[in-house]
Amino acid sequence: LTIDKGNHRHFMLKEIYEQPIVVAQTLKSYVRRLDDQVSLPTPDFDLSAIRRVTIVACGTSYYAGMVAKYWFEQFARVPVDIDVASEFRYRQPVMEDGGLALFISQSGETADTLAALRHARSEGQKIAVVVNVPTSTMAREADLLLPTHAGPEIGVASTKAFTCQLAVLAALAANLARAKGRLDPREEKEVVRHLSEAPAAINGALAYDEAIEAMAHLIAPARDVLYLGRGTDYPLALEGALKLKEISYIHAEGYAAGEMKHGPIALIDENVPVIVIAPSGPLFDKTVSNMQEVQARGGKVVLISDYDGIQAAGDGCMATITMPKVHPLIAPIVYAIPVQLLAYHVAVLKGTDVDQPRNLAKSVTVE
Ligand code: G6P
Repeated sequence: LTIDKGNHRHFMLKEIYEQPIVVAQTLKSYVRRLDDQVSLPTPDFDLSAIRRVTIVACGTSYYAGMVAKYWFEQFARVPVDIDVASEFRYRQPVMEDGGLALFISQSGETADTLAALRHARSEGQKIAVVVNVPTSTMAREADLLLPTHAGPEIGVASTKAFTCQLAVLAALAANLARAKGRLDPREEKEVVRHLSEAPAAINGALAYDEAIEAMAHLIAPARDVLYLGRGTDYPLALEGALKLKEISYIHAEGYAAGEMKHGPIALIDENVPVIVIAPSGPLFDKTVSNMQEVQARGGKVVLISDYDGIQAAGDGCMATITMPKVHPLIAPIVYAIPVQLLAYHVAVLKGTDVDQPRNLAKSVTVE
């Protein structure tokens, strides 16, 4: 197998552009359009007996896990704990019978995550693994193996693995909900329909690439950048900040939009761009009012929303990025694209080594 960049300048950009295809490929093994069902490999344990889920991962995979926490609790009404692996392992977590421990990893080799997996097993937990490398150590040690089909990811900063992880986690959430009697066939059909719309919506998001490239110069000179979001867009704000840090070396922070008033708002001035991730939906108005708090203090906002959202709140923003209008379930999958592209174009402007950023490794096999 030879892997090259095709006609892209970097592996990262190639991998960003592969997302419509690899997300579709991943969904194909979890979503059956024929009978409108979400289907998982059959675990050797009873999903309906799961009383608690513990999610553990690192880096970008951890943010996919944070999105999943919202989904598992909302759809399946199962309580969820989540930790970064390096904390989980040493904080003496309480794991009771009937617990499912879920590990998310592109490589399947991250040392902290693997150590956490073995610890959870020793505590009697069932082990589910969402992993992109099917031959990896974590894949071999799983009770329930849920592969992503993103294909090899070369860029150190994870992109396509993240959106594929979200696709799998949404399917797992729906499955758990059904097992718990909380998803009737009509609702399941809706979930299948929304998930199936993701690849085309990602394509729609990619169409905004040139516009994002054109506005990257607004972010490149900044020393600090703040990302805000609510609900499942909060982990996306964290992921956006991580991407920017990783490849452009600009300091960035992701914050829950409503928590900004308890600290980071003190940072706001005209030199700190604020990226607001706010798709139309039940949380839109609340996020916009946090955005207005930023604007009232002279902050320069980039609003990422859909056409309706930008019509309603785009005035007074430094820039806006228009996404296709999507169901809230797939919004985190679709809104990952502008967040990745923005980090990418800023990094290119800064002339950093996008695919091999300094001090970072693709797979971290030390604890
Ligand atoms: C490294 C990579 C990140 C990745 C993290 C977790 O730090 O640079 O991009 O998100 O490891 O990796 P995993 O393979 O476990 O998903």
